[in-house]
Amino acid sequence: DSSLREEVGARLRDIPDFPKPGIRFKDMTPVLADPRLLSRVVDAMAAPFQGQRISRVVGVEARGFLLGAPIALKLHAGLVPARKPGKLPWRTRTERYSLEYGEDALQVHEDAVGPGDRVLIVDDLLATGGTADAAARLVTQLGGEVVGFSFLISLDFLPGRERLGRDKVCALLSY
Ligand code: PRP
Ligand code: MG
Repeated sequence: DSSLREEVGARLRDIPDFPKPGIRFKDMTPVLADPRLLSRVVDAMAAPFQGQRISRVVGVEARGFLLGAPIALKLHAGLVPARKPGKLPWRTRTERYSLEYGEDALQVHEDAVGPGDRVLIVDDLLATGGTADAAARLVTQLGGEVVGFSFLISLDFLPGRERLGRDKVCALLSY
């Protein structure tokens, strides 16, 4: 609801020029540190997907892990970490994506998702959508179905929401 959005918006700490000049970083650690607020955020991010038979939640490294784990518990779903290359110990699938400068990639274990899985992808922030789209491609590659995406924040002046599919994207806050 709007009072939750206002409280969360007021608690996100704006850090200018982080991690590099010209970027204004939204620091969510004050929200994580407040147990009552964190609990309401997790409930709100899970709520649109209650009753949608989500079987796996993919949490995107690193802040997506922090929100993905409690959302998975709420939805009675398994948790799948999507990690930066070289971090997962077993057999993996890889999807690359482009950044402002250069590229990066995400990996998941190849048995982490399979046919019949209904998957929710969770991250802190939707910007261009490149990261979440790579996570979605990993799910599809393994035979899972991407039911939706849940973000704490969406930057709606960037094309991420369109890129992922407007009807599949939920965000608690939009800027
Ligand atoms: C940030 C953020 C999202 C991604 C969104 O992660 O946490 O994962 O960018 O951007 P996009 O929609 O344009 O792909 P970052 O790449 O900074 O890595 P980190 O989470 O590991 O810090
Ligand atoms: Mg990230």
